[in-house]
Amino acid sequence: MIEIAPSILSADFARLAGHVQPVLDAGVTLLHVDVMDGHFVPNITIGPPVVAALRKHLPAQVVLDVHLMIENPGNYVPAFVDAGANWISVHQEACVHLDRVVEHIRSLGALAGVVINPATPVATLTDILDVVDYVLVMSVNPGFGGQKFIPRTLGKIRRLAELRAQRHLGFRIQVDGGIALDTIDAVVQAGADILVAGNAVFGHGDPGRNVQQLLQAARAATAQKA
Ligand code: DX5
Ligand code: ZN
Repeated sequence: MIEIAPSILSADFARLAGHVQPVLDAGVTLLHVDVMDGHFVPNITIGPPVVAALRKHLPAQVVLDVHLMIENPGNYVPAFVDAGANWISVHQEACVHLDRVVEHIRSLGALAGVVINPATPVATLTDILDVVDYVLVMSVNPGFGGQKFIPRTLGKIRRLAELRAQRHLGFRIQVDGGIALDTIDAVVQAGADILVAGNAVFGHGDPGRNVQQLLQAARAATAQKA
């Protein structure tokens, strides 16, 4: 099932719960949270206290998907799980001991994802694909919302979908960066199952209506693919 995961990076941080409500009303059950430390990426966002505060305002069935763009992400996994993160993804580039970090996330009861930057090949994930719940392909260089989609990353989505089929694996494929009405078709055709969208949801107009339009486009692309 194809899903849109609105990224709160483009929401109004001073009235987060209120800005997110229309997407929940539109049926969204997965929210993407971008955590940046000013070291791994050139921007600083939020940490566990904000995740915990948001969690309190969300119905239990809403899944918080926390994307860690930080150095030494393994050190912060327990704090984010305590704050209410249901899924946690870490960058391949940030983890010397990727297997250990993934196992740590899963041992705490969260789903574990691994992220690759635009210049990181899928081949770096060959030996972790069996144990991850999802793979996130960055389609922009991480750090900021509202950037332009990098089409070269489509080949990596295709490659992951091929590997998943060949090896009979169950990980989901997430794509993040520059997802909007004009890029959805290509990413869905390539094999993405979860589409993160920040600017396209919260950047203009009514977030609830925006997410419905994106979902409609994603469903149409899925139907064409089948
Ligand atoms: C970028 C973040 C994304 C970001 C996407 O570093 O990881 O999740 O919010 O934003 P848009 O959809 O605006 O490209
Ligand atoms: Zn993200």
